Amino acid sequence: MRNVVMITGASGGIGAGAARAVADTGSAVLLVDHRVDGIERLAAELRADGRQALACAADVTDEAAVQGAVAAAVNAWGGIHGLVNCAATMISRPLTETTLEDWTRVLSVNATGTFLTCKHVVRAMVGQATGGVILNLSSISGRVGLPNQPAYCASKGAVLQLSRQIAADYARHNIRCNVVSPGSVRTDQLRSYLAAQPDPAAAERALVDSHPLRRTADVTEIAAVVVFLLSAQASFITGADVPVDGGYTAV
Ligand SMILES: NC(=O)c1ccc[n+]([C@@H]2O[C@H](COP(=O)([O-])OP(=O)(O)OC[C@H]3O[C@@H](n4cnc5c(N)ncnc54)[C@H](O)[C@@H]3O)[C@@H](O)[C@H]2O)c1
Repeated sequence: MRNVVMITGASGGIGAGAARAVADTGSAVLLVDHRVDGIERLAAELRADGRQALACAADVTDEAAVQGAVAAAVNAWGGIHGLVNCAATMISRPLTETTLEDWTRVLSVNATGTFLTCKHVVRAMVGQATGGVILNLSSISGRVGLPNQPAYCASKGAVLQLSRQIAADYARHNIRCNVVSPGSVRTDQLRSYLAAQPDPAAAERALVDSHPLRRTADVTEIAAVVVFLLSAQASFITGADVPVDGGYTAV
């Protein structure tokens, strides 16, 4: 059976980069996002290159939609062997100005969305002799307290701990679950964050300087790690948090 990988947040940024790299390995990819235009365009582009790709519009906070996405992969290709969770949102505000709505929105997409996709993909994987691999995107924000990101930091800490818990419970089913924690990566998320700063150019310089490698990352640098962790070469790695952060959390 073909290797089948579901990727959330695949309309752009790290999710789209990961989808391209995973499809290049010969895996079939199910592209999930609530923004349908990006995933449909990417699926068509990948199919034109001879890859197996389908787009599936789903909001990761909607349990029925998540179940539908998992079923779409299983119906199309007979099983599901990988999940890469990139769907996320960020709201940057000081704690005292963070509304309950801000908090609920960020926790709902980043933490609850990760919970729901893991839950339904693990259900499908448990019944398979092959097991499977889950990769959840956390962040340097899951490890250190970044300024003005109370909800985002909390959500990324939740992703980290949920992933360790899944790794511990489902290892006996040959399901590995790991975390990739990027530093600053040049995507829409980063561009929106910088645009909202009082001096975007100064904020970008400060960001670059905070990474010992003195630059931000390209999505392909995260995608390469995703491909490795999904592969059999990473067969003894589970419950790990892999920093891809230019040394940010080393200092
Ligand atoms: N870009 C960075 O600097 C950076 C750094 C550390 C961690 N990360 C993490 O990497 C992952 C990908 O980030 P990115 O920079 O590519 O972000 P992005 O904003 O460019 O892409 C996120 C994608 O998620 C989708 N999405 C948002 N809410 C959704 C929902 N409810 N249901 C379905 N899809 C939804 C968006 O439409 C978008 O396509 C995220 O988990 C992010 O937190 C990013």
